[in-house]
Amino acid sequence: MIKVENLSKVFKTSKKFPGLFGSIKGLFTREYTEKKAVNNISFEIASGDIVGYIGSNGAGKSTTIKIMTGILTPTSGRVLVDGIEPYKNRQLNAKKIGVVFGQRTQLWWDLPLNESFSFLKDIYEVSEDDYKERMKFFTDVLGLDEFIMQPVRTLSLGQRMKADLAASLLHNPKILFLDEPTIGLDVVVKEKVRKAIKEIHAKYGTTIILTTHDLQDIEELCSKIIIIDEGRVVYNGNREDLQKNFGNGIVLNLRFSQNEKIDETSLKNLFLEDKSFSEKGELSFAFSDGMYSIGFSKDEFSSSEILKKILQKYQIEDFSVESTSIEDIVKKIYNTASLERTRL
Ligand SMILES: Nc1ncnc2c1ncn2[C@@H]1O[C@H](COP(=O)(O)OP(=O)(O)OP(=O)(O)O)[C@@H](O)[C@H]1O
Ligand SMILES: [Mg+2]
Repeated sequence: MIKVENLSKVFKTSKKFPGLFGSIKGLFTREYTEKKAVNNISFEIASGDIVGYIGSNGAGKSTTIKIMTGILTPTSGRVLVDGIEPYKNRQLNAKKIGVVFGQRTQLWWDLPLNESFSFLKDIYEVSEDDYKERMKFFTDVLGLDEFIMQPVRTLSLGQRMKADLAASLLHNPKILFLDEPTIGLDVVVKEKVRKAIKEIHAKYGTTIILTTHDLQDIEELCSKIIIIDEGRVVYNGNREDLQKNFGNGIVLNLRFSQNEKIDETSLKNLFLEDKSFSEKGELSFAFSDGMYSIGFSKDEFSSSEILKKILQKYQIEDFSVESTSIEDIVKKIYNTASLERTRL
């Protein structure tokens, strides 16, 4: 459905010299600074997937989305969206795609929302029947009727996001680009927006590319993840594989009884001296605030066998089990990427 091949985007900005003298100098000298926002990236997105496109601030996500939606032209490489190059054929592309930029609305500021919708209906030549059917669906999943008569400028951020989402889907596009669709929303509205995205995907089978800094969005919505860092792809694969490869981790937190004389070394030795543990896999140990934590992989150990071993020798007061979240994994990957950068 989408093919990105060796895509690069370099932004050239003219250097500003300080002060009045600088401004005059600027008139005569043309010096540019170059920023490689996207650096030779390639990936493919299959029809019907929901893909999380993530990376830290300034990684190049919005730039890629702008190229895929035809707003920007690549410096080199190319993008095919459903067989066409978006920046070469913006009108045709616009019929196939829907876009939401969470940071700003695409709706007419002063128009009541319902008028914005009928405008879009005409622009996209949506039939009366389709329009009615879709509006009913969006009203159901997004609760539009609460604010549909209000001018867009009077909408709250959450209402505006719902309105933008409905507007981007009015022509039932094959592909939907969502650039930070949950930014600035409270937890309840975030959940509603996620649920709406899921329902839209289930009903229309829309291919969705979503950028976000909220990893809960990824966890709940995306089956695929592409991670970029400094304009380069650092991970591309299934969300589940990511969790399997990087984060099949479990952390067992233990609080020992007060009268238990225990230190890190004796806890470590308990496992090191037992071959059925030391030969089976790796355990990691940490201690903070009177709480001992033992980390291990789900593939190698079970929490119960570790707990059993400890209970043979020590008394514990309390324990909890945590599994590594997608957030931890992504943090790890961001960190590795920046470590590799410093090494280069
Ligand atoms: N029009 C532009 N002119 C010059 N530089 C730009 C332009 N647009 C983006 N950049 C630069 O390109 C880099 C990538 O920006 P981009 O907006 O794609 O990042 P992002 O991954 O979307 O980040 P965020 O998570 O903060 O939204 C940044 O360093 C940014 O300053
Ligand atoms: Mg962005």
